[in-house]
Amino acid sequence: MTTFADLGLPRSIVSVLSKQGITSPFPIQEAAIPDALAGKDILGRGPTGSGKTFTFGLPIIARLAGSGASKPARPRALILAPTRELAIQIQERLDEPANSMGLRVLAVVGGVNINHHIRQLARPVDILVATPGRAQDLVNQKKLSLSEVRLTALDEADQMADMGFLPQVKKLLDLTPRDAQRLLFSATLDGDVNKLVDRFMHNPVTHSTAPVQAAVDTMKHYLFYVGEREDRNKVVIRIGARDGKTIMFMRTKHGVDRQAKKLRRAGISAMGLHGDKGQNTRSTTLQGFADGSVSVLVATDIAARGIDVHDVSLVVHVDPPAEHKAYLHRAGRTARAGESGTVVTLVMNEQRDEVAKLIGKAGVDAQTVDISTDASPAYNRALAQITGAQAATGIPVPEPGAQPAKKPAAPNKQTRQTQANKRSSSSRNGQKRGRGASTSNKPSRSTNSRRRSQ
Ligand SMILES: Nc1ncnc2c1ncn2[C@@H]1O[C@H](COP(=O)(O)OP(=O)(O)OP(=O)(O)O)[C@@H](O)[C@H]1O
Ligand SMILES: [Mg+2]
Repeated sequence: MTTFADLGLPRSIVSVLSKQGITSPFPIQEAAIPDALAGKDILGRGPTGSGKTFTFGLPIIARLAGSGASKPARPRALILAPTRELAIQIQERLDEPANSMGLRVLAVVGGVNINHHIRQLARPVDILVATPGRAQDLVNQKKLSLSEVRLTALDEADQMADMGFLPQVKKLLDLTPRDAQRLLFSATLDGDVNKLVDRFMHNPVTHSTAPVQAAVDTMKHYLFYVGEREDRNKVVIRIGARDGKTIMFMRTKHGVDRQAKKLRRAGISAMGLHGDKGQNTRSTTLQGFADGSVSVLVATDIAARGIDVHDVSLVVHVDPPAEHKAYLHRAGRTARAGESGTVVTLVMNEQRDEVAKLIGKAGVDAQTVDISTDASPAYNRALAQITGAQAATGIPVPEPGAQPAKKPAAPNKQTRQTQANKRSSSSRNGQKRGRGASTSNKPSRSTNSRRRSQ
């Protein structure tokens, strides 16, 4: 059996991995790590959840360790990722192995006060993980220089090469030395990356441990024919009430907000994640989903790529994705690292053709289940068997933070007394009633403590 040490990784990294229970390399790691350590440019494609982060991250750490020191604001490695959540996750995953080699990893992402990053860059940083926009802002303010970058990784490289990101990514890579090593990875690495390959890579080696479609063996796919929109909405609630972590994907931010609200109203601890939410909310939502306090994450495709939350057992495409690559990335939030998982696409009557084409392009084998009439006994049985769907409690779950404000004050002795005073004074005269009302508008003790904790 091959070990990480056999691949050429230093002992302290191997020991960090082993403490995390990670002892034998996954196929993409076995294939690509030796070449990355040898300094080659790599195009790497492995299925979702197959360990690509370590595949590019660990060789970066190993190659930087013991080969000079970094200066403030001048990282020696740059990793670009399309979303803030993904950049932060990469930083978190690489932090421990990097520290074990005496290296510092920093994530700089949008939505965080830039002065915070400027202060953090004032100390030497070895590996910078960034979303392109924030990296560019720091460069523009002359607080970041990429002139000493020796290694660059683009995670989700095909997305980084699409129209939304390409100009910015090119601009940033142009600021790195021409001979810097480049590592491009994705589960759906396709021709889109050629624009970057031609311009920035030197004789890249391709490592592909997956077909273009990048299907995962341990994943089961289902198409649920749900009938009309109203029928679909009922199904969504039943599925949301299942035990276990579920991600539901929607096409629009508005759809996310609406769906999360409906689920909470039905008694399900659901939270929405999309690009218009504040960064604090985005972080606490994902954190809550990871620690299990949020059972359903309702998200746009912002959560489709790279996000690695343990134990997500079901992914639901409530709205079908716009294209087949998005299907694969969304689906890949379950069945990670050899675990099993289920992926369900809810298909309304008018969506049948569209979804059939999409599934064909994605190259997955999906079983169709017709649950379009809830009169059929198969309806609940199929739903329950495949997804664990059950009836929701119907007891609304308020949005975090909203609960205490909406709750009436607990009828303790003091408030009972105030209410009694109010009643008696209002019955005596109108002026006093006003005073009583103003007393009750004073923040209660619980409101005060809430304010302090914000
Ligand atoms: N060799 C290994 N053995 C066991 N677990 C591993 C190994 N390598 C990585 N993992 C774990 O597998 C999970 C998935 O890894 P990672 O997030 O790197 O996948 P990925 O290939 O980047 O997926 P995606 O395409 O969705 O971004 C992580 O939780 C990671 O810690
Ligand atoms: Mg990844």
